[in-house]
Amino acid sequence: MDNRPIGVFDSGLGGLTALKELRRLMPNEDIVYFGDTGRVPYGTKGRETIIKYTWQILRFLSGFNVKAVLVACNTVSAVAFGDDGVKSDVPLLGAVVPAAQAAVKATKNGHIGILGTTATVRSGAYEKSMRALMPDARIKSRACPLLVPLVESGHFSKGDELALLAVKEYLADFDGWGEDTMILGCTHYPVLRGIIGGVLGNGVTLIDSSREAAAAADRLITGEGLRAGRTEEGCCRFYVSDYTEDFARLAGILLEQPLTGSVERVDIEKY
Ligand code: DGL
Repeated sequence: MDNRPIGVFDSGLGGLTALKELRRLMPNEDIVYFGDTGRVPYGTKGRETIIKYTWQILRFLSGFNVKAVLVACNTVSAVAFGDDGVKSDVPLLGAVVPAAQAAVKATKNGHIGILGTTATVRSGAYEKSMRALMPDARIKSRACPLLVPLVESGHFSKGDELALLAVKEYLADFDGWGEDTMILGCTHYPVLRGIIGGVLGNGVTLIDSSREAAAAADRLITGEGLRAGRTEEGCCRFYVSDYTEDFARLAGILLEQPLTGSVERVDIEKY
């Protein structure tokens, strides 16, 4: 039993899709969420910058004595992990490996597509994880740099014309390619699931990296005996690096329930 909070972070709002799953699986946990809304998007930035941001966030979260950190960002998971990447005294749980495992499990024809940020696609992290499990898989990835800014500015409802236009443009790359599985390899994308699924059609299984990351975090935290001992619902505290108002407004929509818990602004450059 361990009543310390779990840290969760992303470049912005996207990680809330993983937080929603985590709350569903582990309702008794206290959570500290950080969204780097002042520096989003990460996916267009270089490795050095992403690693620097990640270190700052880990230092910030360590001030809450967190027992584990869910890196609810594929870009950070793809770019900042590894031998020369960030390190932590507490378990760091990423999104790429769980989603890659789920995709390999789901595919029937071995044709797997990946949608992600430019940095995630450039890293080749998904290909590496999937090839280790399925060496003969056919894998095709597409960077979708407009999708994170669209979601951050509230363009994600099913009928959103701008989001639909962007999704169609990116998915045109897959016309006739024959994927039966598509990884939503960015935690901002699950809110575009309706649009992406609508364009791809029913024959393609969507792998939600937020859901897979939260499920993997649950397995690890439970397996290590780190679950909270309380029976009442845990509380969430939210921190962002820019205006709190926009975050609070959109967060309720992403979490599919009104935001409970405080939202505070933090000067992350100080960490
Ligand atoms: N949600 C982040 C991810 O999963 C978005 C990264 C970005 O800010 O571009 O990759």
